[in-house]
Amino acid sequence: MLYRQLGRTPWKVSEISFGAWAIGGAWGDVSDAESLAALNAAVDSGVNLIDTADVYGMGRSERLIAQLKRERKEEIVVATKAGRRLPTQTVEGYSPANLTGWIEDSLKNLSTDCLDLLQLHCPPTDAYYHPEIFGTLDSLVQTGKIRYYGVSVERVEEGLKALDYPNVQSVQIIFNCFRQRPADLFFEQAKKHGVGILARVPLASGLLTGKLTRSSQFAADDHRNFNRRGEAFDVGETFSGVDYETGLAAVDEMRRLLPPAFTVTQFALRWILMFDAVTAAIPGGKRPAQVSENCAASDLPALPAETMEAVRRIYDQKFRPAVHHHW
Ligand SMILES: NC(=O)c1ccc[n+]([C@@H]2O[C@H](COP(=O)([O-])OP(=O)(O)OC[C@H]3O[C@@H](n4cnc5c(N)ncnc54)[C@H](OP(=O)(O)O)[C@@H]3O)[C@@H](O)[C@H]2O)c1
Repeated sequence: MLYRQLGRTPWKVSEISFGAWAIGGAWGDVSDAESLAALNAAVDSGVNLIDTADVYGMGRSERLIAQLKRERKEEIVVATKAGRRLPTQTVEGYSPANLTGWIEDSLKNLSTDCLDLLQLHCPPTDAYYHPEIFGTLDSLVQTGKIRYYGVSVERVEEGLKALDYPNVQSVQIIFNCFRQRPADLFFEQAKKHGVGILARVPLASGLLTGKLTRSSQFAADDHRNFNRRGEAFDVGETFSGVDYETGLAAVDEMRRLLPPAFTVTQFALRWILMFDAVTAAIPGGKRPAQVSENCAASDLPALPAETMEAVRRIYDQKFRPAVHHHW
């Protein structure tokens, strides 16, 4: 496992880290025992950053991470998020009282007195034009409730605007073979500002593992069953917001590009790591074997330039017209 600098924090974090949404809920049935085994497999593979949120299973994901931290001696940086407990997303909802309350709950769930990295959880675009929200985060740093903060964004524009706030350490954004827009301008700007990037939904909710087919079925409580077009929450979080059949066809083309010894999953993750602006990819994982396969992507050789160009061509032909301008 290789490590990269996270913003201007003191932390060098694993370039393959762990996304802890699925172990909280909304991805079908998961057992806490298996989730803990997956978390332990991540630490065994060198993962030292875990991304979670207060809403992932309403504290379940955070509590599992607290349990992991009790069991392991390694230093583990936990990046959690706040904001999605609002019934509707409004700027007013990101008030000092609400932010303080959500953070107090995360502190309890994570059994700690200071959060390592708190991310605003996809607030509305207007929030980025309200400096007082970032002022509240500064106050929470001063009172010792959070050590550092960052944002998780839906749109590239929001990521760019977030760079104006000098204490933002990280921007979490969708970035994968199907969603390449951040590489255009945003990465260069984030690097200039010394801001870390967490690449979320790196496997397009499983499409980029190559295991899904036209007839794949998902459990009733799995968001891949009810949020394909963003009906329940934002467009883009399920299958990266791309057309499912187009995604399958693109994966079939990508199979032809795999270097020897790469799985489709590892190819998708190694592709992300080719961008030095990215601090870490945060694939979700529910089972130890998935996590070990994902982490091994860090040890695989760089992809040749012609392979990178071929992935760019697939994007240009299959996805750019539908998704590039949307965010
Ligand atoms: N708004 C936000 O801030 C936001 C939104 C979305 C995600 N995130 C963060 O980003 C993380 C990653 O995104 P994501 O979990 O949505 O999607 P993802 O990482 O693209 O896909 C994860 C899913 O793919 C499957 N998978 C993972 N590794 C695999 C492997 N090696 N082989 C086969 N299947 C594998 C697993 O599901 P199955 O086994 O069930 O197929 C897993 O839950 C989340 O966990 C969360 O921390 C944040």
